[in-house]
Amino acid sequence: MSTPPALELQGLTKTYGGKLTALTEVNLSIRPGEIFALLGPNGAGKTTLIGSVCGLVKKTSGKIRVFGHDLDADPVRPRYEVGLVPQEINFDPFFTVAESLYIQQGYYGQPRDEARVKEVLTALNLQNKADAITRALSGGMKRRLLIAKALVHKPRLVFLDEPTAGVDVELRRDLWNYVRKLAAEGTTIVLTTHYLEEAEELADRVGVINEGRLLLVEEKKALLRRLGEKRLIVAFTEVVSTLPELVRKAGATLSSDGRTLTYPERDGGAPGGDILRALYTQGLPVGDVETRHSRLEDILIEILRGKPAATPNAA
Ligand SMILES: Nc1ncnc2c1ncn2[C@@H]1O[C@H](COP(=O)(O)OP(=O)(O)O)[C@@H](O)[C@H]1O
Ligand SMILES: [Mg+2]
Repeated sequence: MSTPPALELQGLTKTYGGKLTALTEVNLSIRPGEIFALLGPNGAGKTTLIGSVCGLVKKTSGKIRVFGHDLDADPVRPRYEVGLVPQEINFDPFFTVAESLYIQQGYYGQPRDEARVKEVLTALNLQNKADAITRALSGGMKRRLLIAKALVHKPRLVFLDEPTAGVDVELRRDLWNYVRKLAAEGTTIVLTTHYLEEAEELADRVGVINEGRLLLVEEKKALLRRLGEKRLIVAFTEVVSTLPELVRKAGATLSSDGRTLTYPERDGGAPGGDILRALYTQGLPVGDVETRHSRLEDILIEILRGKPAATPNAA
């Protein structure tokens, strides 16, 4: 028997108040041990998707399976395997840091485990704050505690809902390192983020969601390779008024000040070298020449604009 996916969504749909459809027929399968980044603008449905799995949002229709267990058949026990770092800070302000972690262990049906609490506190650099009242923590420390709470019961599937929005660089780096460590140990990570560099840095696969529809799911490397174009940028030493026809027809554009040419090099198009040669041959005042690779950010913008880059839901 093959291992079941860590998470499987089939036709997941959520309508709020009978009106707004926040998720439409989402199909997605997450492999055990992978880091999956869910990218999409505000209001795309990311938090609703996570909430449906974690039991904070009641789905309208569709199936959710966690490690093969249908949440309709058993809504409680499969969720013991799940951890959530929520987008909003949501803990009781009157407990100490350590207390709130013991409570979390109990909540997930586990005995009080002091060694585990110590381990998590140390991993998140909170070891000196164990006895602090959570209300008194700084914003960054509160964020660290949220992450500790999500992990203290050793979940095999962890959701991070924009965990680094508004946090300092140091916490972001600590968190990235910790996410990599967890994944290396076999934990499955689903991450939503506005920081595209975060997805680019961490993810094995990327899903793009917009207006409740999953537009694309692809290996990050393949996505960058398939859509990642090279861009040739030529700075002219004098103002240029028109480009040679051949160069224009190939898709190169001239900036409005006549000083910069941009040429997107795509599979099947003319190589950048041909464009450069044409510029020299026609005697244009070529100065600096540079090539840039597009990043996930550029690709995402194209997909959300509905450029042909977007393929149907490939889950
Ligand atoms: N509790 C709610 N009641 C009504 N509408 C909601 C609720 N939560 C989210 N929405 C709406 O559902 C859509 C998706 O929201 P959300 O899942 O929070 O998106 P994201 O996390 O991608 O920003 C948005 O249009 C949002 O306004
Ligand atoms: Mg959200």
